[in-house]
Parts: sequence; C-alpha cells; structure tokens
Amino acid sequence: MLETALNATKNDKCISNINDLPIGVFDSGVGGLTVVREIMQQLPNESILYFGDTLRCPYGPRPLDEIKTFARQISHWLLKQDVKLIVIACNSATAAALETIQQELIVPVIGVVAPGARAAVKATLTNRVGVIGTEATVNSDIYSKAIRALQENITVFSEATPSFVDIVEQGLHNSEVIDDLKDRTSSAHISSSRLEIARTYLSPFKSLDVDTLVLGCTHFPLLIPLIAQVMGADVKIISSAEETARDVASVLAYREQLASGVKEPKHRYVTTALNTDEFAEIGSAILEKNIPEVQSVSLDELGAGSLAKERFE
Ligand code: DGL
Repeated sequence: MLETALNATKNDKCISNINDLPIGVFDSGVGGLTVVREIMQQLPNESILYFGDTLRCPYGPRPLDEIKTFARQISHWLLKQDVKLIVIACNSATAAALETIQQELIVPVIGVVAPGARAAVKATLTNRVGVIGTEATVNSDIYSKAIRALQENITVFSEATPSFVDIVEQGLHNSEVIDDLKDRTSSAHISSSRLEIARTYLSPFKSLDVDTLVLGCTHFPLLIPLIAQVMGADVKIISSAEETARDVASVLAYREQLASGVKEPKHRYVTTALNTDEFAEIGSAILEKNIPEVQSVSLDELGAGSLAKERFE
C-alpha cells in the first residue's frame, strides 16, 4: 500500500516535470551537433543533453552488431539522466539500432534516416537520388529501402565516403578544419587535398546524373561548401537535420511535452573523448555558441549497467 502511494507520488512528480527534462541526442562524435543546431533553432526553449562517443569514433567501419551495442549503452545511459526523448543523431547507429532501442525504452526515440529519406523524396524531380554515408549505413541499404518505401520509382545510388568523417573529426586536432567549419558558407579555406578526396568520391554521382544528394551521415553537413563545390549548383544537397528537428517538435507537441519556456534551457555536453577541451572547441565552432564545459564519461560508466527495460524511477 505504502509502496503504491510512494510510486504514485514519484510518478506524479515525474509527470509534472517532464516538459522541463532535456532531449537526449547522441552520435559517434561531433557530427550529431549538426542535428542539435537545428533542434536549437526550431525549439529554442528545449534543453539538450548531447553525448558524443568520440573515443569509439568512427562507427562507420564497424559491424552493425557492435554499433548496436554502443548505441544501446548510450541510450540507456541517457535515459538514466532523465531525458524525455532521444534522438539518434547518427545514421550508422540508426541503421544498426533504431528499432531495438525504440522497443527497449519508454521514451520516444527518433532516428535520422526516415527524415532524410522524406526530404530527398520531396526534393528530387528526376527520381535519381544519390546517398553518401558511412560503410555501415551504405551496406545496410537503409536509405534505398526508406526512399523506395515512400516512392518506388526512385532510383537510389549509394556510396560510402568514410574519409569525410575523418576530415570532420580531425578538426579536433586541426585548426585549419575548424576555420572551415566556422566559415560554412564559404569555400575559401577548402584545401586541395580535401577537394581531391571529394572529387574522387563524388564524380560517379555526377556521371549518374542525380539531381539530389543525401548526406547520409550527420558529419557531412559540416562539409557542404566542399561537397557543393564538386556537385555544382544543379544538385540539391539534403541533410536530414532540419526534417529530424521537425519530427522532434511534432512528437513532443503530440505528447504535450514541449518545454514551457518559463525556465532558461540548460544544455549539457558529454563525451567519451579524453580531451574535453578539443571537443568544446570544435563543438563551439559547429553550434556557433560557446560551450563552456564538456563533461567526460568513461566507457566503464557507460557500459557497465544492465540493459534491461529502464524506467523513470
Ligand atoms: N555521424 C555518423 C553517422 O551519421 C557516423 C560517423 C562515424 O563513422 O562514426 O553515420
């Protein structure tokens, strides 16, 4: 009897505070901050708890089962921090683990592939769509399936472009890359070696005459000037960030869990990287706002817990 009453009090307390809880967002590194940027723009009252698994980045070359394990560890860790919704801001982790995590957690879980596929279907006029992503995402064929489930007569060409992930994550150690990230609209800082990599990856798509190119990796929106320079102005470049943020907004609105706006949003940044200062520097460049503090979480803290069904308790 007492136990029931205590639980009821606990649950009531949770329910009354739920709108103020943060949205949990994670990626293998800093790429998911491109999704955070969009969420902050569309939902400025929301608090964000961002998790970048930099120590284990890149995810792309790993087997899907391993990526699934990492994604489950992070989601369960985020749930323990009391988040009201989780965004898997990583295409590779979405391909490997979205359904499993949705089944395991009691909060809504949103991936980035369905929103990206939707945006591509809206954009293409010729029904010839290119997708670039990590090896894990491309080999899973998740984009072709998602796009063709929406419109069967679209031809999808996919190619893994893993060096693009390296270029972004190297920004952690390379001030020239950080300059590029700060100056997203300009191609002024694009080095010839990066241009060469982009040409090698992207010329096949030009020959295939696609009119739309999906950035099937959340790191890639940081390289839009580079990618656009090679693809030319006629090809629409699609990032799933905007569409994903829209999904977050509609799910929270439907659940009546949007932040009230009475309290200032509080953002928290967490990484498995050993050097949190580097993460803060590149993160600040991506979000165009100062990240004053980044907290480090060890793999032990992350992985040791049980992966049984979790609750707000
Ligand atoms: N940002 C991740 C994605 O969207 C991948 C980067 C990686 O290989 O870790 O797939």
